Amino acid sequence: MREGRLLQTGWRLASDGTGVYASEVIDAIRNDAGEHLGFSLALRDNSAQAATEQALEAARRALFQSQKLEMIGQLTGGVAHDFNNLLSAILGNLELGRRRLPAGSDVTRFLDNAIVGAKRGAVLVGRMMNFAREREIDVRPVELPALFEDLCELLGKALGPETVIQSNFPDKLAPLRIDPHQLELALMNLLINARDAMARGGSIRLAARNRRIVAGSDCAAVPGRYVQLDITDSGCGMDTETLSRAREVFFTTKPPGKGTGLGLSMVQGLVDSVEGQMSIKSRPGKGTTVTLLLPAAMERAAGELADDEVETVDVEDHQERKLRIVVVDDDALVLMNSAALLNDLGHETFAHSSAEEALTFLRRSKTRLPVDLVLTDHAMPRMTGLEFARIIRDSWPSLPVILATGYSEDVVDGNDIVSARLQKPFGLRDLRATITAVAEGSAARNGAGGAAMMPPSRVSAILR
Ligand SMILES: Nc1ncnc2c1ncn2[C@@H]1O[C@H](COP(=O)(O)OP(=O)(O)OP(=O)(O)O)[C@@H](O)[C@H]1O
Ligand SMILES: [Mg+2]
Repeated sequence: MREGRLLQTGWRLASDGTGVYASEVIDAIRNDAGEHLGFSLALRDNSAQAATEQALEAARRALFQSQKLEMIGQLTGGVAHDFNNLLSAILGNLELGRRRLPAGSDVTRFLDNAIVGAKRGAVLVGRMMNFAREREIDVRPVELPALFEDLCELLGKALGPETVIQSNFPDKLAPLRIDPHQLELALMNLLINARDAMARGGSIRLAARNRRIVAGSDCAAVPGRYVQLDITDSGCGMDTETLSRAREVFFTTKPPGKGTGLGLSMVQGLVDSVEGQMSIKSRPGKGTTVTLLLPAAMERAAGELADDEVETVDVEDHQERKLRIVVVDDDALVLMNSAALLNDLGHETFAHSSAEEALTFLRRSKTRLPVDLVLTDHAMPRMTGLEFARIIRDSWPSLPVILATGYSEDVVDGNDIVSARLQKPFGLRDLRATITAVAEGSAARNGAGGAAMMPPSRVSAILR
């Protein structure tokens, strides 16, 4: 009435119930004498234009996000470099300070901890620098288990304590022909996706095996030797719509700031560049398995397998029996390390960061014990390794327990509860010897009627 005309745009509901993005012009109609007679309304359907604008806005936001990521990459390189210098100063001075302390001083322990922390920091910074550097693609033979072990160290606690990673790499896994940094990045993306899908924690299982694709098989890959890697989570899974779009660039279901939707498209890009395959199986509520088929490297170091052996060699063929082992340690790094050593020996591991968690895992399977052996740290908050071993002896008398103890811990009793002890830090050799002895002992006593205790002669042979 006051201005004579009103322009406005907005969503309106059409008579058939559909939404229409409309531009409206409302004019006041007056007669020659200036008296107001009424209004006229002209309405134009602008839905198509609105949709285009929305898409443009989404693309702008995605571009901004990816530029931000690139910037973080560049910044990381710069900051990491300065930070490395700071760390060198910290480390150098800590070590100098430590040397001037009288022997046996209380303070030494604190300084040692600080030195270990700073060294870990230096490793981390080195990785970040590597990660941020703009690099030529560098395809070469890559040992997956070693790369994965390093990656776990880097990811460490980033995945959170509720996420357990179980890995199962056969002893004679063929090396891959791939750029190790890109592979690291791809695995990181897949692990983080799996973690994000498990809001209340859970386990991520990694399994790898050698595969040969022959001409005429129904697999789309070029015939040749491959390594198949399955990454399985017990998370929320995906519905068909999400699953069909998951690999699209910038497709994400995560809230702003949580995901850019670049992860899987990057993994797909890597897989394509090495002529591998990626498939994703997922159902809502039933978890997800991402399977990567990556080409194996042709060149082999001296002393490795001949061509034909690759397909047939499996963990089972290894001279030692493959065991399923529960590993418990409250220090994430130590836990990863023990699991990696055991995997290296061809065993399958179930890693847990506390005795309670491991007990829940053991109790979950009602009928048959899911494992052959337990390797546990002793000094842990809430429940010690020895207390844990006692519960195991009472509940599953035939399940052997190896107790790992540090130098300073003097656990005198418990010889009747644990099957063997292991001094920390232990290496592959110690670990293998102890496991072989315990496995033999456990087979022997199960054969002899399943007595809970190992014969004393056996115990003293194993206890060091
Ligand atoms: N393991 C999984 N379980 C359930 N959904 C998944 C899983 N992996 C991927 N998705 C779905 O696919 C989408 C795309 O994944 P992608 O890794 O490409 O991007 P993002 O994780 O959302 O973001 P970014 O990886 O860039 O941080 C995710 O948003 C999620 O909806
Ligand atoms: Mg992702």
